[in-house]
Amino acid sequence: MSDQQAVTEMFDDISPRYDFLNHLLSFGIDKRWRRKTSQWIARQQPTAILDVATGTADLAIRMAKDIPSASIVGVDLSVKMLEIGKQKILQKQLDQRIHLETADATHLPFGDNSFDAVTAAFGVRNFEHLEQGVREMLRVAKDDGAIAILEFSHPQKGFIRMPYHCYSKHILPRIGRSVSKHPSAYRYLPESVEAFPDGETFMSLLKETGLTAVGMRRFNGGIATLYYGCVQKKPVTLQ
Ligand SMILES: C[S@@+](CC[C@H](N)C(=O)[O-])C[C@H]1O[C@@H](n2cnc3c(N)ncnc32)[C@H](O)[C@@H]1O
Repeated sequence: MSDQQAVTEMFDDISPRYDFLNHLLSFGIDKRWRRKTSQWIARQQPTAILDVATGTADLAIRMAKDIPSASIVGVDLSVKMLEIGKQKILQKQLDQRIHLETADATHLPFGDNSFDAVTAAFGVRNFEHLEQGVREMLRVAKDDGAIAILEFSHPQKGFIRMPYHCYSKHILPRIGRSVSKHPSAYRYLPESVEAFPDGETFMSLLKETGLTAVGMRRFNGGIATLYYGCVQKKPVTLQ
């Protein structure tokens, strides 16, 4: 089994408890981070949005509420995460605005220049091939399209870093295991965050793959970071 298949299986397994644990383990702050991401995307005024690694569709739903003129496609490899997302979309009567389908973010089934904005929340660190996933996001975005990637990061300041480290390494995996009944999923979470090249390193990767006007905004001392930028496809012509 590949690493990607193992990750997909893990998300399938924890899908019934995913939303509950997300909000519990983050004390609900994750909703604020997604709202900030959605607000940045709303300012770009997109009409066609792709949300990759959409999971149970929380960011897609947030964007549908914040951007009434937008239609949103969400893709994910975990069929069970998507099933829960579809139920939530139906309950909120957003099924005319949000469409979910199974797809690998590193091989997106969409043509070049298809979307005004492409987003990902807490998804990219799970990609087996991070750079390939980012390249795909840029490929399917239109010229001048917007990219927003929300991801966990490494808090910089000692007074946050120490307690956060203790919480994520020792407390979070125990609560996660006892609620989800999955032996390792919530140990994987801090390990995958630790392994992710965050901050300036990830900004450099975004620039190398062709994103311009790249910026980042750290939330809650750097527990999570929003990376954003603009896709520039036309070559710059010198006069
Ligand atoms: C931590 S969840 C995030 C879900 C959602 N975006 C959110 O904000 O809660 C990560 C998701 O990434 C998905 N994922 C991981 N690798 C993927 C890939 N290569 N293609 C599509 N989805 C992927 C997983 O199946 C999982 O649903």
